[in-house]
Amino acid sequence: MSSSLSSSLPLKFAFLFSLSLAGASSASLFPKKKLSIENPNTNNISPSPSAPAPINNPKAATVSDLLSLLGPTQQHSLNPQVAQQLFSCFKFLVPYNLQTTRRSLTTTTKLSLPRKEEDIDDLILSPPPPVLELARLALDSGADPAAIHRALDPTIITVPDVEGSNEDRCQLTRTPYGRLFIDEVLNSYLQFLFEIIVERGPSVGLNVSLSRYDLFHGHLFLAKDSGRLGILFHAKEYPAYDKEVFPYNMGYCQVGSNVTYDDSMNLRNILWLAPLPSNSTKAWLSPGVLVVLDARPDGIIYQDLIPEYVNFARTLYEEDFGEVVFDVNYLNVGSEVPKFQIFIC
Ligand SMILES: *[C@@H]1O[C@H](CO)[C@@H](O)[C@H](O)[C@H]1NC(C)=O
Ligand SMILES: *[C@@H]1O[C@H](CO)[C@@H](O)[C@H](O)[C@H]1NC(C)=O
Ligand SMILES: *[C@@H]1O[C@H](CO)[C@@H](O)[C@H](O)[C@H]1NC(C)=O
Repeated sequence: MSSSLSSSLPLKFAFLFSLSLAGASSASLFPKKKLSIENPNTNNISPSPSAPAPINNPKAATVSDLLSLLGPTQQHSLNPQVAQQLFSCFKFLVPYNLQTTRRSLTTTTKLSLPRKEEDIDDLILSPPPPVLELARLALDSGADPAAIHRALDPTIITVPDVEGSNEDRCQLTRTPYGRLFIDEVLNSYLQFLFEIIVERGPSVGLNVSLSRYDLFHGHLFLAKDSGRLGILFHAKEYPAYDKEVFPYNMGYCQVGSNVTYDDSMNLRNILWLAPLPSNSTKAWLSPGVLVVLDARPDGIIYQDLIPEYVNFARTLYEEDFGEVVFDVNYLNVGSEVPKFQIFIC
């Protein structure tokens, strides 16, 4: 394992690693200065690497602006222009609906597809009670990750081989073992989220598949300001090495990738937010959200929210969204026949 640090790390770190190696003089994992990756799609008006960061060029938007825009309208005080620009980068997978008065479905443990389209919408806008309870727990605990951890079954499940990952010496998950929620509905709901992203992604131009190179994980977080529960999914995790379009070596997990680096990389960050509970009453202030965050180079998400050193990978950092509780993985652990299973790591 020691021969490739990047093999077991997610995309962002693999990037930092390979870039800092390429940078030769800086072997740091966290290079402070701008790296020499030029994006052909942006105007190269940034200062030379040795120049200090511009101080008169404040970012107009932050991740917490993005989150508040998806919260109760009366609670944000964003510049309307910034709000409008952020909104133009939202590609909703479920119609964004500020009416919280949706009917609540009678829930069964099985949330698996196929379902009626409007049922899917309702399951996002107004999730089953165990999901709502978790969202309220997040807020009531003061966004304490330990409270969410206590909802997990202590049983440890070893992550088995995933689509030949062992042979490639690729460890996909943060730890070689995972856990599950005690409440089966929560596990089914995670599964449902992955499947809906795959099913509805094409409607916004995101063709994604559940595979160890593409969509297999998300990061569950508790938003700092609001205590809101959310998951930032990362699709297109290991694009195939390509001399021309993607000349980055990302270690063992990239070997054999069939993910092409193209414009759909702009759509690799997908955000789910649980409904936001009121902190004083039993009411719900905003419905659930499932949205693709478009990081096209001429948009505000790319320009203000994606750190420059990973702009080629279009990675939004989960740490910017809040306190990260754990990763949720949906892995194909079948051999002949695909068999997907949740691992919380
Ligand atoms: C996604 O896949 C569909 C069906 O395979 C194809 O028609 C479409 O062009 C693809 N879209 C993108 C953006 O690649
Ligand atoms: C890549 O492989 C996965 C798993 O076999 C498959 O589901 C997916 O459609 C493939 N993607 C492309 C772009 O060929
Ligand atoms: C409840 O939420 C409101 C609005 O976000 C906030 O101003 C207030 O400080 C919160 N109260 C508590 C007790 O957290």
